[in-house]
Amino acid sequence: MKKHWWQDAVLYQVYLRSFKDSNGDGIGDIPGIISKLDYLKSLGVNTLWVSPHYDSPMDDNGYDVRDFYKVAKEYGTLEDFKALLKAAHDRNMYILIDLVLNHTSDEHAWFEAAKDPDHPDHKKYHDYYIWHPGKISEAGLKEKPTQWISWFGGSVWEYNAPTDEYYLHIFSKKMPDLNWRNSAMKNDLKAMIKWWIDLGIDGFRVDASNHLEKNWEFPDASPGYEHFSSLPKHHEYLQELAEELFIPHELLIIGEAGGASKEEALDYAGFDSKKFNLLIHFSHVWVDGDDSNRLTPGKWAKGTVQLKKIKEALKHWVEVFHEKGWNTLYWHNHDHPRIVSHYGNDTDTYREKSAKMLALMLYVLPGTPIIYQGEEIGMTNVDYQNLSDFRDVEVFTEYDNFIRNGATHEVAMQALRDRSRDNARSPMPWSDEAHGGFSEQEPWIPMVKNYPTINVKKNRAEKDSILSFYQDLLMIRKSEELAYQNPRFDEQESTALFAYQIHGKHHDIYVIGNFTNQPQVFHPDLDLKGYQIKLSNDANSGPQLTPYEARLYLKKR
Ligand code: GLC
Ligand code: CA
Repeated sequence: MKKHWWQDAVLYQVYLRSFKDSNGDGIGDIPGIISKLDYLKSLGVNTLWVSPHYDSPMDDNGYDVRDFYKVAKEYGTLEDFKALLKAAHDRNMYILIDLVLNHTSDEHAWFEAAKDPDHPDHKKYHDYYIWHPGKISEAGLKEKPTQWISWFGGSVWEYNAPTDEYYLHIFSKKMPDLNWRNSAMKNDLKAMIKWWIDLGIDGFRVDASNHLEKNWEFPDASPGYEHFSSLPKHHEYLQELAEELFIPHELLIIGEAGGASKEEALDYAGFDSKKFNLLIHFSHVWVDGDDSNRLTPGKWAKGTVQLKKIKEALKHWVEVFHEKGWNTLYWHNHDHPRIVSHYGNDTDTYREKSAKMLALMLYVLPGTPIIYQGEEIGMTNVDYQNLSDFRDVEVFTEYDNFIRNGATHEVAMQALRDRSRDNARSPMPWSDEAHGGFSEQEPWIPMVKNYPTINVKKNRAEKDSILSFYQDLLMIRKSEELAYQNPRFDEQESTALFAYQIHGKHHDIYVIGNFTNQPQVFHPDLDLKGYQIKLSNDANSGPQLTPYEARLYLKKR
């Protein structure tokens, strides 16, 4: 089979707003990314996924696009973007951009026309979005068409007085959903996609890709996710884009589709698939929920980490894609808590050790890794004390929900500190200088106060830092061609240990990690005679793993 460049790639997700500020306005920007390309290259990364850089009122930090053809002023200019492409390509690095196709901002010119019957282009653009006249209640009052709940909490319907209708928004009310059944709309999006391809980008991460189709019968239900997620027709839309645009230009396409089944996943990202190359699935992300929590329910309810479920999820995707497609490896992205705080242990005693353990356990597996910014230095969740420290649009609707459910302010705040998306969005600390060297000015969202000890500069200066562990690990990944191996999973019943074996052409590998803060005896399912510990996070080599210890054993043939 033809090998694709992205099978050997190591991806890194840049959350633009929080990565590096170059001009002292407190907001990360494109020149900031350029200034850190060499850092990323030295980490072992060769492909960047850059979060939305388009012109936007920033209700959802750029996922609400106002103008697809413009770069957001605070992020730079189109010339800066071209300079980023050139600087990356000069270094044999690739740039993927976020492609937001499910919705626009309510300030997009299309929506401005759609919502206003007096607008000269109203007729054309009204049907670019999804409208409903509403229902009439028994009391004769106009009410929302359905009780569907948005991903950010609250109704998916917003009333628009000038047309006396409701529009659908499955995310914030400033993000009206596009009508994919309208072919003029689709053609406009295709032209936009072509425009960015012609500019020289190397691929897209397709945002919210399984939501493009809706159930136009609008049956009532609550939350009703099944009526706006993974409906069969969205596959047709994606295939159309792939056949016309993605495949002819040999782009790397990463799709985001939360609850994909095995069949669906292969349909998205199998080798013969005509949609994506890589799939972002969520099955390992929230496996520490607490279903009994009624105050802060859903993803907000933190229970205990269930290692068995994490292992099952990772194993599942390895097996689904084995020889049939290509796997994606990631611990978290900009929508999730920080991995060391989530599945590791972010206390002073165990933060570094558990961050290394998590890295080792994931990045020896087959597929293409996506490292999230700051993961490589073990950034933690936020320590914000006030609601006003948070920025995410989702936080504020959900906070109100928690209080309505009877949660105290403190309980609600703790849920936000544990689970909110702002955990991943605090600025990248580059040094122990003021504002972590991220900016010369107060950043748009507060730094986490631990930046004097958790920063890139310190990690670079220390030989056994998390950063150098990532570098070593990625080097081994490359030299042993780990992306192409087929692991056998051990310790499947253990709730403390994760282990697997790889028997490749030139080597045998055994990886084991302890996910707990207790020592653990281990009994490998193979004879480790002749193996050497090639990488570990502890000097120990005895028959018992120390808390959060992880080892990679290797035997050359
Ligand atoms: C995706 C993005 C998320 C965004 C949403 C709406 O889930 O990852 O950050 O809020 O889509 O665009
Ligand atoms: Ca800036």
